[in-house]
Amino acid sequence: MEFQIINKQIIGRDIKRLDVRAEAIAHKVLPGQFVMVAPEENSKWIPLSVAETDLRRGLISLIFQEKGHTTQVLGKLGIHEKLFSVTGPFGKAPEIRQLGVVVCLATGVGAAQILPMAKAYKKAGNKVIGILSAPTKKEIILEPQMRIACHRIFIATDDGSYQRKGAAIETLREALDQEDVHLVYDVGPVDVMREIAHFTKERRIPNLIQVQTLMSCGRGICGSCRVKAKHSIQLSCEEGPEFDGHTIDFDYLKQRMGHRHEERPLEQADEGIRGFWKQMMKE
Ligand SMILES: Cc1cc2nc3c(=O)[nH]c(=O)nc-3n(C[C@H](O)[C@H](O)[C@H](O)COP(=O)(O)OP(=O)(O)OC[C@H]3O[C@@H](n4cnc5c(N)ncnc54)[C@H](O)[C@@H]3O)c2cc1C
Ligand code: FES
Repeated sequence: MEFQIINKQIIGRDIKRLDVRAEAIAHKVLPGQFVMVAPEENSKWIPLSVAETDLRRGLISLIFQEKGHTTQVLGKLGIHEKLFSVTGPFGKAPEIRQLGVVVCLATGVGAAQILPMAKAYKKAGNKVIGILSAPTKKEIILEPQMRIACHRIFIATDDGSYQRKGAAIETLREALDQEDVHLVYDVGPVDVMREIAHFTKERRIPNLIQVQTLMSCGRGICGSCRVKAKHSIQLSCEEGPEFDGHTIDFDYLKQRMGHRHEERPLEQADEGIRGFWKQMMKE
């Protein structure tokens, strides 16, 4: 049955993994792309990355942190239950080239987005160094998968409850002291991505990030996902979610993410977006 939950796991503090039957998406999705998910008929649609696929069984794996209402509703669904809707894949599939040494760094649940990138950069012939960082051991996820995807891995927790103690940037500095790195790819909170962008710019190392903006339609219609990159407004559902960290306006990004609740026009547009999705699902 399409969108049925085949397996469910709690993999970290407030972090769950659902393996969902979605055969067409599993065969189509590329690293860096995402799906729009509505757990129930009246839910809003939220963007989630496809962390892994199982082509033989036609499954996609969604890994999410319960942050607000929709992710909590999603987290309450059990094995054999069905998600109301999963559409996609959306987003620009980035070009993945052989560059040399690539650092793939994730903070917390960002590991769900970094894992497909680490696998893809390794497959393209790069040496991949993985960095998993989180406040405590309870938010370190996907360690076994990252160990397979990367040639080398560093793990750090802010409180020292697991492996080395320290922030993501300190671990990155250590990795850069040991290797001649050609790209730093990272996913995490805005302030961490901003710090890494400044640091890599100083060291003249290219930096790619994935943004986690608010998204309502996922396909260039509502404008809710706008970011400022290279001094112009871009839609992260179409041009992203991958962007050059050195050209993103992080103040604007933070401001946009803060609009998640307050933005009245979007709230009012919800009915319109719902109608749009219903139409899309009929097609
Ligand atoms: C392309 C893309 C891929 C994504 N992939 C994943 C993924 O694989 N796994 C995952 O867990 N999340 C992912 N996200 C983020 C996810 O879409 C949001 O966490 C989700 O929309 C929150 O919905 P909600 O209704 O549960 O919370 P809301 O009610 O929207 O928000 C609840 C609270 O959480 C805060 N919050 C919500 N979203 C974020 C965020 N992204 N960053 C920081 N704080 C936030 C809000 O400010 C608010 O305080 C992705 C986002 C994008 C754009
Ligand atoms: S999410 Fe609607 S335009 Fe990008």
